[in-house]
Amino acid sequence: MTRWLEARTPAGELDPVAIATAAAIVRAGGLVAIPTETVYGLAAHALDRAAVRRIYEAKGRPSFNPLIVHVPDLAAAAPLVSRLPDAARLLADRFWPGPLTLVVPRSPRIPDEVTGGLDTVALRAPSHPVARALLEACGVPLAAPSANRSGGVSPTTAEHVARGLDGRIDAILAAGPCDVGLESTVVDLTTSPPLLLRPGGVSLDQLRAVLPTVELRRIAQDAGGRASPGLLSRHYAPDAETLLIEANSIGPTLHALPADARVGGLALEAPRPDDPRIVAWERLGNDPADVSRTLYAALHRLDAAGCTHVLLERPPETPVWEAIADRLRRAAGPRD
Ligand code: TXA
Ligand code: MG
Repeated sequence: MTRWLEARTPAGELDPVAIATAAAIVRAGGLVAIPTETVYGLAAHALDRAAVRRIYEAKGRPSFNPLIVHVPDLAAAAPLVSRLPDAARLLADRFWPGPLTLVVPRSPRIPDEVTGGLDTVALRAPSHPVARALLEACGVPLAAPSANRSGGVSPTTAEHVARGLDGRIDAILAAGPCDVGLESTVVDLTTSPPLLLRPGGVSLDQLRAVLPTVELRRIAQDAGGRASPGLLSRHYAPDAETLLIEANSIGPTLHALPADARVGGLALEAPRPDDPRIVAWERLGNDPADVSRTLYAALHRLDAAGCTHVLLERPPETPVWEAIADRLRRAAGPRD
């Protein structure tokens, strides 16, 4: 049975009973889905191996895919690392709490179950008040991947979490929709130069303003320009066949689809085409922050509409769109 815990009272204050209940479940080795400013996470006591193993079971996630450890601040991160690179300190000073994850050398105290056996650990201090209250109440670091079944779309509401994980986890700490809507930026500070592994809420330009040497990790491509399988795995993916296309190829693409197709669209500004096979058309607008916030909810709705085909409008190739473009490429990428 999964308990539903409302994190706030009807008056909008944090509910101390809900937070304490969630903290007790985590401390006892249970799994609680928690709101963060990026997406909902599936949290467990990061130093409890058995609890961390349950995360992989609940998600159906391969255990070599490492987890992010959530801490309140840099002081709480100190016992979890073997060495804190100066660059990590600089970035944490500037961007924590917030949507930035730092990959640093791990302490042996962190179980292999968290790091997938790597000698590094990914750390993040979330800014969401509910996540922060829970971290304070439980007093332990929280290992938390996004709270979705492996390969599915990340949850940005508590209802999304319930749709994927109800009955598989102990509780959902519910606090409305997430502000950022896309997962955190991940930067590896154990390499030279430091590498941006996953674009997210903090942009490459913002990182470079603090740490000019950061490079974008280029995804290896084969001769045909397709991403190699495994490196560009299909994540954040709706169940339908998914095509990433320019706004001006929507017409020709529709023309080539079967007569019995059930087509969903995720557009920025392209209007809904007049075609009876279209069962859902989501228009997200042209503001990157709005699109980030609403993208996954739109993908969840397209999933629920039972589409056979989903058309994704390709965003502009400018830095402010990079995190969104990354998620759309993965949604349309080869299945892993
Ligand atoms: O915004 C977020 O980051 C959300 C919230 C819940 O904090 N969490 C999240 O976790 O997106 P997850 O598990 O879905 O993604 C974690 C990413 C993966 O791409 C994983 O490979 C990478 O972080 N990662 C974790 N530990 C790593 C490590 N030691 N070295 C390199 N990458 C690592
Ligand atoms: Mg995830």
